Amino acid sequence: MNHLIVVAHPKPESFTIALANAYGDELERLGHRSQTRNLYTLGFNPVLAPGEVGGFAADREAPEDIRREQQLLSAAGAVAFFYPLWWASMPAILKGYIDRVLSYGFAYDYKGGNIHGLLAGKKSVIVTVSAEPNKALKKSGEWKAIQTLLDAHIFDTCGIEVSEHLHFGEILPGLSKADADAHIEAVRYAVRKHFGVVPG
Ligand SMILES: Cc1cc2nc3c(=O)[nH]c(=O)nc-3n(C[C@H](O)[C@H](O)[C@H](O)COP(=O)(O)O)c2cc1C
Repeated sequence: MNHLIVVAHPKPESFTIALANAYGDELERLGHRSQTRNLYTLGFNPVLAPGEVGGFAADREAPEDIRREQQLLSAAGAVAFFYPLWWASMPAILKGYIDRVLSYGFAYDYKGGNIHGLLAGKKSVIVTVSAEPNKALKKSGEWKAIQTLLDAHIFDTCGIEVSEHLHFGEILPGLSKADADAHIEAVRYAVRKHFGVVPG
C-alpha cells in the first residue's frame, strides 16, 4: 500500500519526528511505500487565501502547492498524522494544511443538503504527544474534545476512517530511554497491527 505521512514539528530532534521516522521505517520493513511530508521542512504556507475559501470544485483549479499535496493524498491508501499538542490542539501549520488541502470539491462536497466525504476508502493513523500525562488530558476533558473536534469532525467529513489515535503523554526533557523505546515500539506495533499484511 502507498502511505502518506504528514508531520508537523519544527525540530528534527523532537520526539514527534522520532515517532514518525519509526512509523515510516516499520512500513518500509513490511514492504509498503511511504512518503513523508514535514510541513516545516516544506515551508508549507498554512494561510488560506481569499480565493481559496470556496474550495476548488468543477472548473476552479487549486494553486500548485495545494495540488501537489492533494495528488499525494489521492495516491495514498493510508495517511498518518504526527504532531505535538500545542494549546491542546494541532500546530497552526497543520491546521492550515487541513484548511487548504482538505478543500471543498477535493475532500468533501454537499449533495442534497448533506456532506459527502470524497476520500472514503482511505485509512488514517494519528500520533500525538504532549507534556501533560494521558490521565490529566482525560480528566480535564481535553482528550474527549480532541477526539470530537479534531479526529471525528475532520476525518468523518472527508470519509477517512481513523484506524487509531495513539497519544503519548509526559513527553518532557529527560524522557527515559526505556519510555522512549516503549513508545517507539508502540508505534511500530500499530503499523504491524493495521498494515501487517501487504495487499496485492
Ligand atoms: C506552543 C506550545 C504549546 C504547547 N501546549 C501544550 C498543551 O496544551 N498541552 C500539553 O500537554 N503540552 C503542550 N506543549 C508541550 C508539547 O506538547 C511538548 O513540547 C511535547 O510533548 C514534546 O514533544 P516533542 O519532543 O515532539 O516536542 C506545548 C508546547 C508548545 C511549544
